[in-house]
Amino acid sequence: MTKIWKVQPDASSAHPFLAEAGAMIAEGDTVAFPTETVYGLGADAGNTKAVEAIFTAKGRPSDNPLIVHIAHIGQLNGLVEEINPISRRLMDAFWPGPLTLVLPVRSGAVSPRVTAGLTTVAVRMPDHPIALSLIRAAGCPVAAPSANRSGRPSPTVAAHVYGDLDGRIGGIVDGGATGVGLESTVVVVEAREGSIRVLRPGGVTVADLRRAVPGAEIVVETTAEEAEAPRSPGMKYAHYAPQGRLTIVHGDKERAVSWARDSLAEAKRTGERTGVMTVAEHTGLYEADLVIGCGSAGDMNAVAQQLYAALRRFDEAGITYILAEGYESSEGIGLAVMNRLNKAAGHRVVRV
Ligand code: TXA
Ligand code: MG
Repeated sequence: MTKIWKVQPDASSAHPFLAEAGAMIAEGDTVAFPTETVYGLGADAGNTKAVEAIFTAKGRPSDNPLIVHIAHIGQLNGLVEEINPISRRLMDAFWPGPLTLVLPVRSGAVSPRVTAGLTTVAVRMPDHPIALSLIRAAGCPVAAPSANRSGRPSPTVAAHVYGDLDGRIGGIVDGGATGVGLESTVVVVEAREGSIRVLRPGGVTVADLRRAVPGAEIVVETTAEEAEAPRSPGMKYAHYAPQGRLTIVHGDKERAVSWARDSLAEAKRTGERTGVMTVAEHTGLYEADLVIGCGSAGDMNAVAQQLYAALRRFDEAGITYILAEGYESSEGIGLAVMNRLNKAAGHRVVRV
């Protein structure tokens, strides 16, 4: 049985529920908890059995390494070898916050299952009082991937975690909805070249990185196809996919809407249950079995916040054919939104 604790978002580690959940992690169990990005599924990063329980619960391929979460900078020293000055700058600028840094791992610091045999470890300090309090209560660095079944959209409320993992994990700390809605930005600094490689775009944008380290070259490696070799192993897997067939429609608004209306009507004739993902302002333009206004035009942060819940709603409604409006976005949070949307669509894109 999976235990559920309902906790106010600003709870301290003295909260009896967080003390209990922390003790479960310390004893080798798995506990899901909110962060400012998405819910994570946590276990003691040093305990191989506990880390294996994460992979089993998620059905996650074992060659995809996990992010280690810390609550204070003191925990970092035991985890990694030397930290280059640019990485240090990024920590100062963005921790606690939605930035994950890939750093050389200190031998024996975490279970080899956490790093999937790599010589590096991904680390972040989440910006959420419950996450920080829980890590303190556990008393160890906490390995935590997103708390979804592998391949499903990441959870942004506890009900998503419950739906995917009930009976498979020790507990869920329900602290309400997460903030950013998409996973953290994963970066690795090439110290010799003075460059920052973005392995996964997220809540910390390219513009944010540039502001923090003005001299650095910033290289975005968003997909396994674009990278020569997948530097962030997780990027090569199918992700975030709804059960229905999702296609992204790009192009001039009038043409795109007209193409979408025809395509939806045709799908309906062939017996599909149809869905559209658009922004609130455009919901009236489409006819489908389910039209979701995900965020608002010109507010990509709101689109990011609501994206995963929207993808899950199509599944709940049994939608088999989905069209999503595409956004042209190369720098801000829109880059992360389109990265996830492209993956959810298996890169099925129509340009009209
Ligand atoms: O916002 C987040 O980052 C959330 C919350 C729970 O913190 N966590 C999360 O974890 O998204 P996960 O496991 O779903 O994604 C981890 C990503 C994967 O793409 C993985 O391949 C990459 O980080 N990663 C982990 N360790 C790495 C390493 N040593 N080198 C390169 N990439 C690594
Ligand atoms: Mg994930």
